[in-house]
Amino acid sequence: MNSLSPFSVATPQPSTASVRGLHVITWGCQMNVYDSERMTDVLRPLGYRAVGTPEAADMIILNTCHIRDRAAEKVFSELGRLRKVKEARAERGEGTVLAVAGCVAQAEGKEILARAPYVDIVLGPQTYHRLPEMVARAARAAGAVIETDFPVEQKFDFLPADRVAPAGGSAFLTIQEGCDKFCSFCVVPYTRGAESSRPAAAVIAEARQLAAAGIAEITLLGQNVNAYHGEGPDGATWGLARLARVLADEVGIQRIRYTTSHPRDMEDDLIAAHRDLPQLMPFLHLPVQSGSDRVLAAMNRGHTADEYRTLVARLRDARPDLALSSDFIVGHPGETDADFADTMRLIGEIGFAQAYSFKYSSRPGTPAAGAGMQVPEDVKDARLQELQAVLRVQQDAFNAATVGQVVPVLFTGRGRKPGQISGKSPWLQAVNVEGPDSLIGRIATVAVGHTYTNSLGGVLTEEADRA
Ligand code: SAH
Ligand code: SF4
Ligand code: F3S
Repeated sequence: MNSLSPFSVATPQPSTASVRGLHVITWGCQMNVYDSERMTDVLRPLGYRAVGTPEAADMIILNTCHIRDRAAEKVFSELGRLRKVKEARAERGEGTVLAVAGCVAQAEGKEILARAPYVDIVLGPQTYHRLPEMVARAARAAGAVIETDFPVEQKFDFLPADRVAPAGGSAFLTIQEGCDKFCSFCVVPYTRGAESSRPAAAVIAEARQLAAAGIAEITLLGQNVNAYHGEGPDGATWGLARLARVLADEVGIQRIRYTTSHPRDMEDDLIAAHRDLPQLMPFLHLPVQSGSDRVLAAMNRGHTADEYRTLVARLRDARPDLALSSDFIVGHPGETDADFADTMRLIGEIGFAQAYSFKYSSRPGTPAAGAGMQVPEDVKDARLQELQAVLRVQQDAFNAATVGQVVPVLFTGRGRKPGQISGKSPWLQAVNVEGPDSLIGRIATVAVGHTYTNSLGGVLTEEADRA
């Protein structure tokens, strides 16, 4: 760690900042959502304030994801649209700084500048604390500014202290970044860099600030969040369990979640924390990817299907109402019908409350991309359909089981229908009820009456009305 105090701001701030519009478009995972919020915080001292449309923005940031499919093509097509916005603004005499951030910027920064020369700034996920300096350089320079190295300083040490808490009572907090696991299929180790953890004191300070701003729920984020090993205030290395205990007991966070976990890093003390901490929500996203030991080995996941089964049993023993979610990849190179059958068997045995599933997508530069035995597209399609059908049945059954229960819901915003408010159950189900806006940001109990495709409906209970 460097010697600078947490939250000090790296760049000089202009004394006379006029208000300018900022529009951030965010794709990808929750870590990108967090990064977009923090980029907005970094730019606030320069006078930038969020606006709802790119047309109204003096600066547009496209925060990108590189995980699957034609990620770069999607970026270029969006950039084509933003170019028109920029040109229309120029005709009105308004300048626009166009920046591309995130994982595509990291992986394909040079190509972006070559193919989209109207882009002013390209910045990787580890350099956004340098944004004010980049904006200044872009204003001075004739050409574009590119920052895609992995700086020695931790960006977190340079972010402004005054984080603006999101509306709705729930916030993301990144505690760990990067990945050293190098799964065969995955770009993250290349786009986000080596694994690193923020010091516990910095995380606790940010959580305290969020709590003071009325945040009831914090989701701790990391590409391998349960590999967290931050420096503790006592000089010892803290794991995620210890951090969660402090956030629950000392900071007073009412709901704690964490994502994404790797089965390999599910240590005993974290399992115990699920037993001991009511604030740790009974929902865990624990991706298994495949139920075949052969495929798990080819993926370099570092565990077997049976080890996953045992882990889930231990977690359920610690917290019997724990609901599980996972990611699945079908059609990894070399995956046979028998391997896929193993995945289906595992799904049948575990029972998932929710899951994400994807066709394997070849990512340039990853080991699996060059592997033989690529699975034909139609086979992937058929497997994905079969797998999603079973996961759908499991999700419906899980949701149906909550009908008739009274559950605490954190209301995070208005519902889609007028007069409705929307929130999340402890098991991360979306819940919509008729209710007053005054409950937004608060926890109230709901008698669940029905299930819809991806949500629950019900009525606020009397206790909630008095809360
Ligand atoms: N760190 C997390 C995953 C982050 S990426 C973990 O280890 O589980 C989110 C999900 O995207 C992965 O779990 C995987 O299911 C999917 N994914 C990643 N790379 C992919 C690829 N090349 N093709 C298809 N799906 C992919
Ligand atoms: Fe990607 Fe594997 Fe790291 Fe997850 S653990 S981010 S899937 S390399
Ligand atoms: Fe995408 Fe980067 Fe997140 S590739 S999933 S935005 S870490």
